[in-house]
Amino acid sequence: MRLIHLTDPHLSNLDGLKLSTLVGKRWSGYVSWRKNRQKKYLPGVLEKLCVAVKAEKADQILLTGDLIQIGLRSEIDQAAEWLAGLGSAEQVMLVPGNHDIYARGSAAAVNECWTEYLFHGGLRGHYPVLRKLGKLSLIGLSSACVTPLFMATGKLESGQLEELTRLLEAAAAEQQTTCLLIHHPPLPQMAEWRKALTNAAALHAVLERFPPLLIFHGHLHHNREQQWGNARIFCTAAASSVSDASYRVIDIEDAGECWVLRMTLKSVVRGSDGELAFVSVDEQGWSVPR
Ligand SMILES: [Fe+2]
Ligand SMILES: [Fe+2]
Repeated sequence: MRLIHLTDPHLSNLDGLKLSTLVGKRWSGYVSWRKNRQKKYLPGVLEKLCVAVKAEKADQILLTGDLIQIGLRSEIDQAAEWLAGLGSAEQVMLVPGNHDIYARGSAAAVNECWTEYLFHGGLRGHYPVLRKLGKLSLIGLSSACVTPLFMATGKLESGQLEELTRLLEAAAAEQQTTCLLIHHPPLPQMAEWRKALTNAAALHAVLERFPPLLIFHGHLHHNREQQWGNARIFCTAAASSVSDASYRVIDIEDAGECWVLRMTLKSVVRGSDGELAFVSVDEQGWSVPR
């Protein structure tokens, strides 16, 4: 079984916006896009990454949020078109990021326009989301919420941790192995306070009882990994980053007594002909008892 992780494409273009309609956090987000993000995150890079990702023939593409910049309906529509180009809702599993749920009204539009990718036939607006791929249960959490100016924290709103515990208990009873998707770094001390998951300690306590095989997150815009017991936690660089756009290919084989895994990290390089390509920059293999 092949999974691909990509995250934080920040794909929307804010040119042509009526600036008088932007207030508060959206105004500061627009200024940040205009001054910095617009130069760092390029549609051309993302386009090449998507071509490379499609050629990998993954069973499931895992997308951990921040598709857009400031949570406007027009951006959410742009991202819906991009999602359809990336793959079907059967192939692509999405959880939202803080730039998707950026301001009041963003969540309703995201839930409406990206419904199938987020909830896949489940209850709209309800997290965690569960998808089963054979003996692997993919669980999506939403850590995205509207935050004050200059803050990018996340939170698992009430009910998600309880429901997650129930899902993990059921998976253990069914001998399903779990894999978690969340936008924010999931454990304490993984991000500075301004960007952290505010109830990471509570999530940590749940995951200690039912450790997953893999956790994928975004938000940090860097390639990073951490081993936590038998689990591996992966963050992947922003999918449109001009300097280090990346995706991860995870091949998982059921070897009876254990899972055999191989992770290949592919990052952007510019060839001598000026063309962008994605090449392997890290490969690892490991196995985990079932
Ligand atoms: Fe991001
Ligand atoms: Fe983020």
